[in-house]
Amino acid sequence: MALQLGDIAPDFSAETTQGPIQFHEWKEDSWAVFFSHPKDFTPVCTTELGYTATLSEEFSARNVKAIAVSVDSVTDHNSWIGDIEETQSTTVNFPIIGDPERKVASLYEMIHPQADDTLTVRSVFIIDPNNKIRLTLTYPASTGRNFDEILRVIDSMQLTDANKVATPVNWKQGEDVIISPSLSSEEAAELFPNGWDEVRPYLRITKHP
Ligand code: BEZ
Repeated sequence: MALQLGDIAPDFSAETTQGPIQFHEWKEDSWAVFFSHPKDFTPVCTTELGYTATLSEEFSARNVKAIAVSVDSVTDHNSWIGDIEETQSTTVNFPIIGDPERKVASLYEMIHPQADDTLTVRSVFIIDPNNKIRLTLTYPASTGRNFDEILRVIDSMQLTDANKVATPVNWKQGEDVIISPSLSSEEAAELFPNGWDEVRPYLRITKHP
C-alpha cells in the first residue's frame, strides 16, 4: 500500500553527495523535504534543484532539511552539481541520494510504471520532527514543482501544530487564519481574546496568532 499521511517515513541507508547517511539519523529532529527528480542532466530538474538550493536560509529558519534522490549515481550527481551551480547561480548545499539500484525509490514508491518504468516521478514527502509523513505530492516529469508552495505548506503546518487554527485557501504567512471548528465559542474566547469575525458558526476568521 502506498505511503499515507501519518505513516512513519521509512528509514534507509544510502550513498549521497555528502557521504553515506542513515535517513532518520541524518534528519534528526528537524523537518525534511524529501523529493525525487527523474534524471540528472535534464532541464526541469536543473531548475528545481537550483531553486531548492537558493531556499537554504528559508529552510533553516523553519528547521527543515532538504534531500533529493534519483536513480542516477552519486558520481553523476556530483558532475551535474557543477552545471546546477553555474546555470542557476547557487551552491547546492543539500545531499542528493544516488539510487541506481532503486532501493530508496522503491521504498517510497517513487517509480510509477504506467508513467515511466525506470525513472522516478517528481514526488515530494514532507516529514515532521517525529518522522511522520505530513504531505505527499506527485508531479509528472514535464512539470516543475512550486517550491514556494512547499514552504507555504510548512508554514501552515508549523502554525497549525502550535495553535488551534487552520489556514484558508491560498493563505500565506502573516494572513488571517480560521479558528479550529473543534473549539466551542467559550474555548475560542479564551484562546483568541481579540475576537473573530463569525462568517458562519463554523467559519470564524481571526488574526494570525
Ligand atoms: C527534465 O527535468 O527536464 C525532465 C526529466 C525527465 C523527463 C522530462 C523532463
